[in-house]
Amino acid sequence: MSDRTAARGVITRTRKPAGIPMPAAPVELAVERATRPSATPYADACAAPEKACIETWSAALNLRALLAEHGSNVWVVSEAQLLANLNSWTRIAGAPEHVLFPVKANPSPAVLELLAAAGASAECASPAEILLARLAGFPNARIAYNSPAADLSTAWKLLVAGGTVVADSCEFLAAIDEQATAAREAGDAPALGQLLVRVNPAIDIRYRKCEAWSELTSHAKKTGKFGIPAEEVVDAVASLRTLRVTGLHAHVGTQMDHVEPFVQLAAHLGEIADAIADRTGVLPTLLDLGGGLGIPFASTDEFPSIDALGHALASALDPRFTYLFEPGHALVGNAVALLGSVVSVKNVRGKRWTIADVGTDQLAKITLLSWHHPVLGPDGHTLATSGNDALGGPLCFSGDTLLPATDTSSLKVGDPMLVQHAGAYCASLASTFNGRRSGGTVVLRANGAIERTTPRASGLDEPLARGHAWSALAAMHETRMPLALDVIAPLSSKVLREDLCAERFAYIAATSEGTHAYEFEFAVSSPVGFVSMPLAIRLAGDAAIVSTLRMLGYATKAFPVWGTSLDLRMSKQIATNEPVRVRIELSHAAQREGPKSRRLAVRFTMRGDAVAGDAASGSFEIMFDEAGAGC
Ligand SMILES: Cc1ncc(COP(=O)(O)O)c(C=O)c1O
Repeated sequence: MSDRTAARGVITRTRKPAGIPMPAAPVELAVERATRPSATPYADACAAPEKACIETWSAALNLRALLAEHGSNVWVVSEAQLLANLNSWTRIAGAPEHVLFPVKANPSPAVLELLAAAGASAECASPAEILLARLAGFPNARIAYNSPAADLSTAWKLLVAGGTVVADSCEFLAAIDEQATAAREAGDAPALGQLLVRVNPAIDIRYRKCEAWSELTSHAKKTGKFGIPAEEVVDAVASLRTLRVTGLHAHVGTQMDHVEPFVQLAAHLGEIADAIADRTGVLPTLLDLGGGLGIPFASTDEFPSIDALGHALASALDPRFTYLFEPGHALVGNAVALLGSVVSVKNVRGKRWTIADVGTDQLAKITLLSWHHPVLGPDGHTLATSGNDALGGPLCFSGDTLLPATDTSSLKVGDPMLVQHAGAYCASLASTFNGRRSGGTVVLRANGAIERTTPRASGLDEPLARGHAWSALAAMHETRMPLALDVIAPLSSKVLREDLCAERFAYIAATSEGTHAYEFEFAVSSPVGFVSMPLAIRLAGDAAIVSTLRMLGYATKAFPVWGTSLDLRMSKQIATNEPVRVRIELSHAAQREGPKSRRLAVRFTMRGDAVAGDAASGSFEIMFDEAGAGC
């Protein structure tokens, strides 16, 4: 068993059958709540600290070696920390699938894949997030869709596919019920997933310590835009013609600094569920208490630990209900750090400014909410948060200051530095200001191995670089005139037009690494003597098709598989007088239109033996329809 599997085993020990559970019906309503045992298996004897601390895994990293190997501006994901956090949440929630990771907090495939493999669920706010979750391996039964701007058709399809939909308004609830009614009247009554209602609580949910940013992060305000007012929920649910609401949800807000709001919310949602049962005879048994548990950004910050929340909830949860949680910060926040380096040191009126090459383009919460992250110097020690120096980012913007008061005497140009607690709402809020690109992602595996999962982005990834003012450029040269074909002909490439049609390839060897990675060796003949771009597409394309069909267990290619997008970079030439090696890595297959229609992401690299390293790399999006006509 690999270490990765071993780590997963720890998580899965407490697992129940996959999927956000169907509430049992008919629901028993008569038991006295006060006499019931705790709803969670949470161990009260747990000796975990009451206060959440700054993580310690990143201080143990060899930052100089990491910088030398992977360069600067790189996200570092700790598998062990992420899975330990999920374990803590699982202790409260009873099963990993009751922990719904909000994809908005960190949509990095590295994070999503770890959580999907560990059995967690995904909370998505858009069709794009649903696709990312599916490609990372979350099955529909472990995907929830919750948005104040939900798309009806996306929601209906997910519900039909067995997923969870959270209705954020009476209007949306009525619309999706109408959809279900129309389907029923048309004789179509599919088994559906879970339908929850987002409640705008009627209770006062407050931070213990009111900060300048509290207004922006409090998501359960009575005057806010989220959810159906608590006092309207029973009527809204009772008025449904076809659908049955199986649960209630609310989210207290981000960076909640005490446990009381979660306890209050559990009781409040329980009361609303009881009122629904009184009116309709059916108790919604899923209570989704949302996310919101805060994490510290300074050692002086006071936030309850996940275990402290578990203790507080242990006696407050009612065993008639299944509780779901949606931790963003408190699941991924301390499991990712951002590696940077010092690019300059300068003096401005006697103040030393040390300038790093990571900044608020990736750490936007510093700008939005003034949350300064802890920063480690090259030796793993935390930089001070007082002193006469400042640590600035690289951007042309004054607010781009990582530490406004610190001591940078230990830092010199070229040194590594590491921004801690950068896992939540950093990559997902990152901008491309000043033409900045991410250096990609590496994952620190639970067994200590470091694996690069996302490559460094290049200037060509800049969407604006592809968005010239084309029509204005064309309008500068308005005169249209025909070009004679005998003018064109001598300019055209005979190689592309004719010679490359003679390119041929044959498989010489193939290996698989599990079901998602494959390596192929090709014998190639080409009139130009190297792998041309069209040939690279054919080689990688065919290898991707073979890999996809193999992953899905097909023995023959009995239906069409086609590409819908391609990204190809060729950095070195690969000679064709030697074998060409192609490595293919596949995402999970996500469902597309019908049940047999799928899409998946493919990453490929290509190399020859003469030149070290990958010579070409890229990705495809591949689609196929298993019910297709075949080719
Ligand atoms: C509905 C919902 N659930 C969960 C979260 C996660 O919040 P946090 O990262 O504070 O735990 C958010 C964040 O805004 C949210 O909107």
